[in-house]
Amino acid sequence: MNFNEVCFEFAAGVAEQLPESDLPEIVFSGHSNVGKSSLINKLVQRKALARVSSQPGKTATINFYKLKEFRLVDLPGYGYAKVSKVEKERWANLVEGYFAQKRKCALIIQILDLRHPPTDDDLNMVDFLYRSGYKFAVVLTKSDKLKKTQYEKQIEYYKDIFSTIEGIELIPFSAQTGSGQDEVRKLIEESVINLNNSEV
Ligand code: GTP
Ligand code: MG
Repeated sequence: MNFNEVCFEFAAGVAEQLPESDLPEIVFSGHSNVGKSSLINKLVQRKALARVSSQPGKTATINFYKLKEFRLVDLPGYGYAKVSKVEKERWANLVEGYFAQKRKCALIIQILDLRHPPTDDDLNMVDFLYRSGYKFAVVLTKSDKLKKTQYEKQIEYYKDIFSTIEGIELIPFSAQTGSGQDEVRKLIEESVINLNNSEV
């Protein structure tokens, strides 16, 4: 599958602006500043397709990137404290609006920071995805920031936390070194093929 012919397509600030879902969608969800945009850039081998921010809370819209066979959907990060209540409500309505629509969701990639325990928001999101029956996987990012023993320990920790979710995929990843990127691309490919097959 082609991951390199990609263009930014659309940014939606409110749910009513969400474009029609006529291609399989790969959705990136996670806490603000966790590395959603960095993962997207790595997957398509572009330095700055999705804007990476030193300040958290920068992606305030749902951004759509179009490839030949699917779209990448960058959700605004949740949990950033320094955003006004009104702005937080807008984001919540936007993301809830996205999930409430009948869309061609092939896969939700829930991104967590391998170094830290999940927040309540993270756990709620995983719970929501699981209960709603979405195909989803957890990418554990910023793995380059851990030494080997710490890395192994955190992987075990995450396996343990999600042990009640049967068959959950946990993929360690680093946008810095690129480790894990092939696994994520493979999962995306499989998910797009599965969705297409389920529709015929
Ligand atoms: P918002 O759009 O603000 O919610 O953030 P985001 O989730 O899109 O995160 P973004 O990709 O902008 O990354 C936030 C910061 O983390 C940036 O400074 C990135 O360079 C850094 N970062 C992201 N992924 C990695 C990684 O795998 N390793 C390291 N070392 N830094 C990373
Ligand atoms: Mg972002």
